[in-house]
Amino acid sequence: MNNHQYVLIIDFGGQYNQLIARRVRENNVYCEVKPYTTPLEELKALNPIGIIFTGGPNSVYLEESPHISKEIFEWGVPVLGICYGCQLMAYTLGGEVTPAQDDSAREYGKTKTYYNTDCKLFQGLPEEGISWMSHSDYMARVPEGFALVAHSDACPNVAIADESRGFYGVQYHPEVNHTEHGQDMLHNFLYNVCGAVGDWTMEDYCKTAIAAVREQVGDGKVLLGLSGGVDSSVAAALLAEAVGNQLTCVFVDHGLMRKNEGDEVEAAFKKWDINFVRADAEQRFLDKLAGVTEPEKKRKIIGAEFIRVFEEESSKVGQVDFLVQGTIYPDVIESGKGDAAVIKSHHNVGGLPDDVQFQIIEPLRMLFKDEVRQLGRELGLPEYLVMRQPFPGPGLAIRIIGEITKEKADILRDADAIFREEISNAGLQYSINQYFAVLTNMRSVGVMGDARTYDYTLALRGVTTTDFMTADWARIPYEVLDKASSRIVNEVAGINRIVYDITSKPPATIEWE
Ligand code: XMP
Repeated sequence: MNNHQYVLIIDFGGQYNQLIARRVRENNVYCEVKPYTTPLEELKALNPIGIIFTGGPNSVYLEESPHISKEIFEWGVPVLGICYGCQLMAYTLGGEVTPAQDDSAREYGKTKTYYNTDCKLFQGLPEEGISWMSHSDYMARVPEGFALVAHSDACPNVAIADESRGFYGVQYHPEVNHTEHGQDMLHNFLYNVCGAVGDWTMEDYCKTAIAAVREQVGDGKVLLGLSGGVDSSVAAALLAEAVGNQLTCVFVDHGLMRKNEGDEVEAAFKKWDINFVRADAEQRFLDKLAGVTEPEKKRKIIGAEFIRVFEEESSKVGQVDFLVQGTIYPDVIESGKGDAAVIKSHHNVGGLPDDVQFQIIEPLRMLFKDEVRQLGRELGLPEYLVMRQPFPGPGLAIRIIGEITKEKADILRDADAIFREEISNAGLQYSINQYFAVLTNMRSVGVMGDARTYDYTLALRGVTTTDFMTADWARIPYEVLDKASSRIVNEVAGINRIVYDITSKPPATIEWE
């Protein structure tokens, strides 16, 4: 997609590299993240309007740390160095960087910072604000031509600039939310320094992507495994729009989806003239899972059966030329390979026979998750698909503790639907990152009317997280929990007790199995 202005982000190993890229794109400027080891001529050929060096955990004065050739500063392209990137710029251009001599020059966390608002980077910003620091090195001497344009109480050179050459460096992290006006500073760099025009819009990308897919596919046949998740749904919508009935979507319904979900997914694709295959395989999965209680065994059975069903359905399609993968940009960046093809080991690839020859299409590989959602909207997918929370491949099977039966799955589906409805009624659906019900295998005594009951205990789970690697339990207001609880015990037969899971991850996991 090189019909947009392009900002190059060079990754020096910082933990926030993806965040920087997202922030740039939020400014309607297209950017990509490339490892610092990418050959310089390759980077130059990208014709960037600006370059950003990310942070990184190293110290520039050590030989083994990532470095970059001085040549990059001779391209006449503005550069913004962030944290390690700032020190690297200073070091490469002849400044001196040393370990901080005392604690005061070693800054971590929220730090009061004073900006020179005459500098293009800080124009229009307040003269002071909080910035997020994380550095233990110190720029003892800045290179010739550089001025000090921001400072903190402890550090005289929080930001440096050589405005004549368009080189800027900041020791703090503008990309994190803790930094006040970080986004404004980036906006200034992009628009005032690099001359960005803001030509990265989803509407535009959508058109370009459709045209590109059309050209690539020609009159070939395309196969896509649809899970109902955000990525595969948006990829399917894009392909549907681009190649219509040359596309076959195979949607394996294992019967362990949430309430009405299978129908909703099917309904969302009705408007396109594509081959939509819904394999209703509930009974097959229930049969295979009968009597199985061990979580890992459940996962393996479902994975294997999923492949079998997908294989059966896709073999009916005949010759396939292309297979669609829902790889998104964070996977590409994390792979550290930049442009190299990344094929997720996903069960829908494993399901095809070895002798099938096809090319992989990854229409989302340059998009962040929020951009994928935006593209989905652009393509007219309903909000419930576009904003769908993560849902595990094995579905409700790992939310039914112990043996899985149709009866238990139905109880859980009804209870989970009520919980989700109450979360939405309270307007909390986007502030809690994942929330669901779990049917524990425990039964206890209760009383309903005048009768004794002996029914299941249902657990509710809600977490806040950014990466799903760690998570905190969501502080759902008591009134919301109360409403969900009383509705569930009243409306769902088989449940007489509700508990709320108040463990974070670690030590617990988000799912119960
Ligand atoms: P845990 O339970 O490991 O979950 O804290 C972290 C995130 O991963 C999701 N998850 C899965 N997703 N297949 C998936 O596609 C799986 O087998 C699976 N297990 C857990 C979980 O829902 C949470 O978002």
